[in-house]
Amino acid sequence: MIIIILFGPPGAGKGTQAKILIEKHDIIQISTGDMLREEVNSGSSLGKTAKSIMDKGDLISDDIIMSIIEERIKKPDCQKGFILDGFPRTLNQAIALDYLVENKTLNIDQIIEIKVDEELLFERIEQRKTEGDLVRNDDNTEVLKNRILIYKNDTMPVLEYYRDLKRLKTVDGMQSIERVSEDIKKLF
Ligand code: AP5
Ligand code: MG
Repeated sequence: MIIIILFGPPGAGKGTQAKILIEKHDIIQISTGDMLREEVNSGSSLGKTAKSIMDKGDLISDDIIMSIIEERIKKPDCQKGFILDGFPRTLNQAIALDYLVENKTLNIDQIIEIKVDEELLFERIEQRKTEGDLVRNDDNTEVLKNRILIYKNDTMPVLEYYRDLKRLKTVDGMQSIERVSEDIKKLF
């Protein structure tokens, strides 16, 4: 069982690197953002609540996120391990995760920050719009500014929490996708 956490601001490459890691380690990706977008697309009541929050680039409540995570990691496909992409995003989520993991006598193997300068994030998000056929509602300059602000206010304290516990590794996310992936590989 291997558990990896990927951190980084919007557009840092969490999803991109998670997809490379799942191939290599035969584990699954748990992206709270992807799961919430599925809820929005399905029109569920959770999706309805989540939509307006996500469209503004704000965060979904910790209670909702923790129940999604708890349910997800119980599933059999998580038995070999998982990569958390976009979770935890607040100190409360990080503390709740520690508790959850301890209760299940699991171990978080790697906590990795993908560090990217703010200006580049705008380019990355513009780039992403040209890749898929589905453009995200939150991928526009105004909402991206708010997502970055929220990352600084709510998520950076989580990085400090792990850094203080000497558990955080940082990779330079300004490099090519391949280079970032190689640097991540070196951590194992
Ligand atoms: P989420 O879906 O997690 O979005 P995000 O954190 O804003 O991050 P992104 O998915 O935009 O970026 P990424 O780092 O995955 O970059 P990617 O690999 O695509 O969350 C969305 C929303 O859901 C939140 O705003 C919130 O409302 C809610 N939410 C989710 N989780 C929550 C939680 N735990 N608590 C509360 N609310 C939550 O790369 C971007 C682009 O760059 C791509 O085009 C890619 O090809 C390219 N690229 C990647 N790496 C490189 C590289 N090294 N060089 C060049 N190009 C690169
Ligand atoms: Mg992503």
